[in-house]
This record gives sequence, C-alpha cells and structure tokens, in this order.
Amino acid sequence: MTTLLRGRLLSFKRLPQSLDDTDSYVYESDGGLLIENGVIAAIGPYADIKAQAPADVTEIDHRPHLILPGFIDMHLHFPQMQVIASYAANLLEWLNTYTFPEECRFVESAHAERIATHFYDEMIRHGTTTAVAYCSVHKTSVDAYFTEAMRRNMRMVGGKVMMDRNAPQGLLDTPEMGYDETRQVIADWHGKGRNHVAITPRFAITSTPAQMEATAALAREFPDLHIQTHLSENHDEIAFTCELYPEAIDYTDIYARYGLLGPKSLFGHAIHLSEREADAMSEAGSVAVHCPTSNLFLGSGLFPLKALARREKPVRIGVATDIGGGSSYSMLRTMDEAYKIQQLLGERLNPLESYYYMTRGNAESLSLVDKIGTLDAGTEADLIVLNAAATPAMALKMEVTKSLTEELFLLQTMGDDRAVVETYVAGKPMKSILQ
Ligand code: GUN
Ligand code: ZN
Repeated sequence: MTTLLRGRLLSFKRLPQSLDDTDSYVYESDGGLLIENGVIAAIGPYADIKAQAPADVTEIDHRPHLILPGFIDMHLHFPQMQVIASYAANLLEWLNTYTFPEECRFVESAHAERIATHFYDEMIRHGTTTAVAYCSVHKTSVDAYFTEAMRRNMRMVGGKVMMDRNAPQGLLDTPEMGYDETRQVIADWHGKGRNHVAITPRFAITSTPAQMEATAALAREFPDLHIQTHLSENHDEIAFTCELYPEAIDYTDIYARYGLLGPKSLFGHAIHLSEREADAMSEAGSVAVHCPTSNLFLGSGLFPLKALARREKPVRIGVATDIGGGSSYSMLRTMDEAYKIQQLLGERLNPLESYYYMTRGNAESLSLVDKIGTLDAGTEADLIVLNAAATPAMALKMEVTKSLTEELFLLQTMGDDRAVVETYVAGKPMKSILQ
C-alpha cells in the first residue's frame, strides 16, 4: 500500500539557534511524501517524488496546508481526563481533593476501557501521535491503555504507577506488588505492537524507601526502559519530600540514590532545581519535562527552559501537557503557554524552537528519533496536517502573515485541535474517521 501526500512539508534537523536558522530544518513549499507500509519511503519536491512513485500510487493533496511530524506529548496522566479543570489552590490540595479519588475509579476495567477510548480520540483530534502517560496504580488501567494503543497502532509509552503511602487505600500498592505488577506489565506489553513500558514511581512522597528500593531493582533489571516520575514541582512538595528523605542532599539526590537518574529518565516539571541538581541531571543525561499549562494552572512556578538549555552543562528538555493538571490536550496551546512563561522570565522562545520541541526534540529526549519526530525517510509515518487559517480569526490574521515563521507563530498562538486537519498514524488517516 503506497500513498503520496502533497503539501508544504516541515521537519527539523536540530534545535534552531535563531529565527533565521534555516539550516536547522527542511521545508518543501510544494513537497511530496511517499509512504509505504506505514513508513516514510521518500521526501522531497513533489515533482521528484511523483516521478519515482509507482503508477498506481494513491495521492492525497493537502495543499495549502502544512505537513509536520505528529506531536509528541512527553508527560500526561491517562486517568485524569475527568480531573482537568478542577479548582484547587495548589498541587498537594489538587492531588488530595480531586486527583487521588478520581484515580481510584480505574480499578474497574470497564471504566478504564471507556476512558482509554476517549483518551486516544483526544490524542488524534489534537495531532498527538505519541504520548508518554502515567496510568493508575491498577494494572487494569495499564491493560486498557495499551490495548487501545494497539487497536490504533500508535507508538505509546506508559506505565503502572507505583505508590505505597500518602494516598487513599484504594490507590496504594506495596513494594512487592508494585515490583511484581510492573514486571507483569513489561511481560504483557513492552515491545507488543508499538508499545513501550515505563517504570513509573509516582514521586518520592508516595513511595516508601522500600518501594524506591524495588524501583531501583526494576531499573537495574530493565536498563533500556524509560523511567518517569515527578520532581521539584512546588515549594511545599519539595519541603515535604526532603523531610521524608532527610539523608538526601536535595530532591534530585533522592532519585539518584536509588539509581533512577539516567538517560532514559523523564522528570515531570523540574521547575525549582538548584545548580547542583541541574548539573546532576545534565551529567546523567536525564530529561526535564516542561508542562507549562499545568505549572500556570496549579501556580507551581515558571520553568527556566532557556536557562536550562543554554547552561554549560545543558539539561535535556521535553515538553508536555500534563493532563489533568494541565488545561489543554493541545501541544499548540501548550507551547503558547511555554512562550508566555519565557516572556515572564525575560527570555525569547522562538516559534522554530517550539515546533522542534513538539516534534524532533521530544523524540530525541525519548531516544526514539530513529522512529518518530521527523519526516525523514525510513521513519514511521506519524504525521499531522495543520491549517493556519482554521478559524475566521486565524484566517483574518493569515491574510497579513508573510513568512513560514509568522505562520507557525500564528498557529501556536491561536491554534488548537481545530487547526489539525488530519492525523496520520503509521500512514493511516485517523482524525477524519473519528465520530
Ligand atoms: N505529582 C505527583 N503526582 C502528580 C500528578 O498527578 N500531577 C502533577 N501535576 N504532579 C504530580
Ligand atoms: Zn504529572
């Protein structure tokens, strides 16, 4: 099955250094993308690709729209779709009042399966083709999550949350259960279809030292797996965490002591790191995952993205929605808020950087750039089609938009799911078939 997409193609080669860093990306104003068996077979000017395509190729013309790699969301919570938009003063109140009670419902597989269907519908609707999710503590939630990923043939990362204290009884495992069930989840799902299992201790507050030991054992036994947790999100959280682990130098050191600081480790938030912690993250090659809508919604703080990225010892960066602390499923809305946070810090986040982070940057931070995040030949055909004139107000602004970077910035500033015309997963159009 061979498909030829025609449109304006944009794909990144590396992090753009400035607005006129044209060497950092590939842009084809009349591009052709040849897709064979779910993989990108060739990319180039439409005329060249058409000339090498088989005579019976199916052609889809997306002009005048942009075709980009699908967005990647590096951190969100699948069981928090009904937590989004909960009115709380801060992180710990939000967790205890809304989030923990809601996650208890995922012990029921019927509930987990229903929410999984909605979850993937929203991913497709918003142009997110890969996401890195926390499921709940219950294995049922992980089974629902990966079953639906396989049904849609999406490359997804997810994990069973491990938590054995400071939460309601219905949300607690034990060090042994967390270890055994994570091993079972790995056996059941890792490498099945396009699935990746992540080792997922929720955060140091909800894991006893014994559970952290069990997590350390999993990390040693499965060194190739991603590890995801939360770090340094809010001042009260940091103070409570450090009380619980008095022997550690700081929050980051807690995870380091259990061997959880490595190049596959994804730390949600990481807003208030000291220089020592940023050095430790950098040396380990760990990733700080910025969740701007969540950080603003919960009043957690302003993530110093540009400062962390330009350090002598730079910290690897990911970007994410953090549903349901985050307030939008859209990576476009997410990067609009990321831009505003940098504005408040007196920094500039240019639109090329934003689109790099949502696509190739997140793929690099997941160590999956050989598979996703670009339009390079040989990678998986997870793509989105974006329309910068999707609404009347956007169309009006588009009348005076003169360059690619202006168009990208308009899409980021005003765009959401309405700007996503189509979402292709492994070469298959998925958005237009949603009910
Ligand atoms: N820290 C521990 N759990 C969570 C969560 O579910 N959301 C956020 N934003 N922070 C957390
Ligand atoms: Zn989170």
